[in-house]
Amino acid sequence: MIASTFDFLAAVVKDRTGGVIGADQRYMLETRLAPLLKREALRDLDALPARLRAPQGEALAQEMAELLTTNESSFFRDGRPFDHLRPLLRGLHAARPAGQPLRLWSAACSTGQEAYSMAIILAELAEGDPGFRGRRVEILGTDISARVIGRARAGVFTPFEVQRGLPAATLTRRFQEEGAQWRVKPEVAACCRFERANLLADLRGFGRFDVIFCRNVLIYFDVPTKARVLRGLAQQLVADGALYLGAAETAIGLTDALVPHATERGVYGLAAPQRLPA
Ligand SMILES: C[S@@+](CC[C@H](N)C(=O)[O-])C[C@H]1O[C@@H](n2cnc3c(N)ncnc32)[C@H](O)[C@@H]1O
Repeated sequence: MIASTFDFLAAVVKDRTGGVIGADQRYMLETRLAPLLKREALRDLDALPARLRAPQGEALAQEMAELLTTNESSFFRDGRPFDHLRPLLRGLHAARPAGQPLRLWSAACSTGQEAYSMAIILAELAEGDPGFRGRRVEILGTDISARVIGRARAGVFTPFEVQRGLPAATLTRRFQEEGAQWRVKPEVAACCRFERANLLADLRGFGRFDVIFCRNVLIYFDVPTKARVLRGLAQQLVADGALYLGAAETAIGLTDALVPHATERGVYGLAAPQRLPA
């Protein structure tokens, strides 16, 4: 691939997803885009820019950008954020008037494991506390990739996927076997909704959330993009809500809108001036 092709393709990806493709990732472009080149009958990557610039090139550009996202996920990923979420949800439940739903958002949800992990925690809370049982809950999962949103909506996981992070008792309790696969039980999935959405877009239409997980996606962005996305997420958080980032991510130094939790790494609340009435 000639340098100008690499630069063009990297710019197309950055414009659409915010993801930065480094020079050391040329190999990834070649392997992940090989099936697209074949389908489009293009001889190699150097033939792709002309096709992307052509009329109707935008759909192909979007497809290419989505193919270059990394969709790695697992249930209860990293454990600790979910351990922290449990008591936080109890506190939010106690602080909310009856009838007001708790709203949780898995922003960049990939194939849905994060959103379903939240739903499992909420099911456990409802079972352990009769007061919680009447609490309406909405979980929204969003991702830029239409392919992963389709999978999240289906709620069907391979044996490999359910072995990553799910205790055996949780698997048999919250999932049903379907051939060689496992489907999230309808009562767990009922509060989950999945939509395609770009974190770089205006997200105000989704409303405000008590809890936002935006984990393991900022790592792919440059500093101005991280700051822009964090400002957008802060706008969607309620006054006493919490934002959870990934283990390798931080909001420190990127926005004044968010302050780190006093004791829990990776958890953020709104800074005082941003706090609006709930
Ligand atoms: C590594 S996965 C993280 C999944 C999950 N949050 C977790 O921690 O397990 C990152 C996801 O971010 C999505 N993504 C990348 N850029 C995005 C953007 N601009 N808007 C929305 N989602 C994006 C990718 O499609 C991918 O599914």
